[in-house]
Amino acid sequence: MEPSQSTFLMLLTYLCAMVSIQIHPTIDLELQYGAHNYNPLPVVIEKGLGIHVWDTEGRKYFDFLAAYSAVNQGHCHPKIISALTHQAQKLTLTSRAFHNNVLGQYEQFITSYFGYDKVLPMNTGVEGGETAIKLCRKWGYEVKGIPANKAKILFAEGNFWGRTLAAISASTDPSSYTNFGPLMPGFDIIAYNNLSELEIALQDPFVAGFMVEPIQGEAGVVVPDAGYLKQAYDLCKAHNVLFIADEVQTGLGRTGKLLACDYENVKPDILILGKALGGGVLPVSAVLCNDEIMLTIKPGEHGSTFGGNPLACKVALASLEVIRDENLADNSFKMGQLFRERLKQIQSPIIEEVRGKGLFNAMVIKPFGNHKTAKDVCLALKENGLLAKQTHHHIIRFAPPLTINRSEIMEAADIIENTIQSI
Ligand SMILES: Cc1ncc(COP(=O)(O)O)c(C=O)c1O
Repeated sequence: MEPSQSTFLMLLTYLCAMVSIQIHPTIDLELQYGAHNYNPLPVVIEKGLGIHVWDTEGRKYFDFLAAYSAVNQGHCHPKIISALTHQAQKLTLTSRAFHNNVLGQYEQFITSYFGYDKVLPMNTGVEGGETAIKLCRKWGYEVKGIPANKAKILFAEGNFWGRTLAAISASTDPSSYTNFGPLMPGFDIIAYNNLSELEIALQDPFVAGFMVEPIQGEAGVVVPDAGYLKQAYDLCKAHNVLFIADEVQTGLGRTGKLLACDYENVKPDILILGKALGGGVLPVSAVLCNDEIMLTIKPGEHGSTFGGNPLACKVALASLEVIRDENLADNSFKMGQLFRERLKQIQSPIIEEVRGKGLFNAMVIKPFGNHKTAKDVCLALKENGLLAKQTHHHIIRFAPPLTINRSEIMEAADIIENTIQSI
């Protein structure tokens, strides 16, 4: 071996030894035995309560991601955990081959909560999206009269609704769809927050539905212009097209109203819910619509082994009750306003914009230092006791549990200000 080669190997071994000393054993196990389909911040959480989480060294953090809005009610909410543990000791799963004594009660509760004739229970948010599209296509053929296999669904550029093949077929993000083809046909893309493109696309008589996030989450908390949702809804009505709201992330109080569509008094033809419907403990999703649409699907045409299981139903009931009884939408509205006002006061050359609604907020960061990005800010925030996650390279999402109070918001904002001023 050449001397230079052996020096390089020694250096590499030394570096690896240094790195392996620093890598937490849990992270090490994940790297070794788990798929590398995520790139989490280097923190290992072992406990959560309310708006806080603790790592394995006992360090306490504000959780400003709230599991991508699945923990709107706060970590381990006692009422939700009690519903979970009580039902878990009695009956957890029957499949839909038999009735269970909780499903009907839950279905009655959630349909009156949101004002729809019927609900179709699923598990994850992406299954909710798939279900909505199947319902929309079925309605397109059997009610609207679109010729067989010609139905089209419109999506907005920048949409995100999960990782199944249908979801990535609607995506405009190359990292979502590249090398996963062939993709699903019958999906058309129009610009987000652009009514004239929508109006042109709606001229096509084969369009059955327009599926849209009232605020785009993964795209970076992109808030459309006031009036967009209402006018988009009205355009859909004028063309006999279903308006499908993906409120998996924006729903259940996150944006300061029960649903983000409530800001414009829009009642979607099909409403998709997920995430916080499971109170941060179980995957629970739901698709709500009226009979004209829902009853196009007949027995045996759609379903899921776990959808509508009694454990999920009890958890979802408790999760919805907590949102209502603790006025979480209202708190989200007030705390969100306070938070944005406070963040907008920070004087820093790296902040480009602060935006959001309720407790669904984002800070857009200008590149700084030596090619540093939003991820570097998130790493520094972690060191200072606040967990947040970047989306793309330059946006940080701030979305804590909706139970957060005024002094906690101020304390968290101080951490954000001090962190930004110090980097
Ligand atoms: C708007 C929206 N829809 C759907 C989904 C998919 O939900 P899930 O990850 O539970 O499948 C997400 C996930 O982030 C989302 O943000």
